[in-house]
Amino acid sequence: MILSIESSCDDSSIAITEIKTKKLIYHKKISQEIDHSVYGGVVPELAARLHAKTLPKILEETKIYFSSLKAIAVTTHPGLSVTLMEGIAMANALSISLNLPLLEINHLTGHIYSLFIEQDTQLPCTVLLVSGGHTQLLEVENYKNIKLIASTMDDSFGESFDKVSKMLDLGYPGGPIVQQYGENGDKSKYNFPIPLRNSPKIEFSYSGLKNAVRLAILKEQENNPTLSKQIKSDICASFQKAAIDHITMKLKKYFKTNPPTNFAIVGGASANLQLRSDIKQLLDKYNCPLLLSDLKYCSDNAAMIGRVAIEQSFI
Ligand code: KG4
Ligand code: ZN
Repeated sequence: MILSIESSCDDSSIAITEIKTKKLIYHKKISQEIDHSVYGGVVPELAARLHAKTLPKILEETKIYFSSLKAIAVTTHPGLSVTLMEGIAMANALSISLNLPLLEINHLTGHIYSLFIEQDTQLPCTVLLVSGGHTQLLEVENYKNIKLIASTMDDSFGESFDKVSKMLDLGYPGGPIVQQYGENGDKSKYNFPIPLRNSPKIEFSYSGLKNAVRLAILKEQENNPTLSKQIKSDICASFQKAAIDHITMKLKKYFKTNPPTNFAIVGGASANLQLRSDIKQLLDKYNCPLLLSDLKYCSDNAAMIGRVAIEQSFI
């Protein structure tokens, strides 16, 4: 078995995965969302202190597997350096004390392999990775051969939801909240610009859209400083539409020269239902299946890190 640790942001998580069967034996994740919500975003120092408290508690529960372990795996990058260090320190201590090899795992590769925790590996695949830190279009052969096709020039898709939520004083993390508000809103109420609409390049950007939302909020506040729930819902719905249209437009462009045969959405923001359904509609035109991870593995977790570790352990 492999013990894997994830602490790249605000989720403390440990998993045990069986090497031969790739089966997830144990998985626990303690999220710090409530602790950070008062600040409207993740406070790295607070996150690190909370990891230092919770990771050892979770580790206690895995002691029964220690004698079966063949390796320790840990997320080493990308992520918040102070929070990554908590997981890395624990992994190092375990590796030394149990005399086991240490596998360094890339967090983004983890998100890609979250697809294959509960279903068979289906590669090669075109992957859209949307998280709090990244928006990337990738061609994935396997964990070693991942080609970056496009990424964001500024904010990420998930981050833009977090910032809109913060501007509307709705809470953190913004993704699920903005999605929920948007369900009761009119998406044609605000005509937010679709980013890079006329650019032929396949790349992403969210700072202009974020600014357009900021200006719309200021304009509404001229009439009434306290925005009604309906106005907030309309802003969320209109913002979400522009944010997703941006992605589908870029995908349409990319598919013209690279028709998809296998496509996946991964990362915390892949939980967005409208994004899922709009991309599904686009893929149907190409008779291309859409791979998704189970909702519980979309956001950060150690199960996906363990799943990559299985691949890397066979180097
Ligand atoms: O992958 P993840 O858990 O952490 C990072 O690696 O960044 O992604 C978290 C991000 C947050 O920005 C959160 O607001 C966003 O994913 N998110 C969503 C939704 N659920 C989570 N964004 C849009 N719609 C959602 N339903
Ligand atoms: Zn992540």
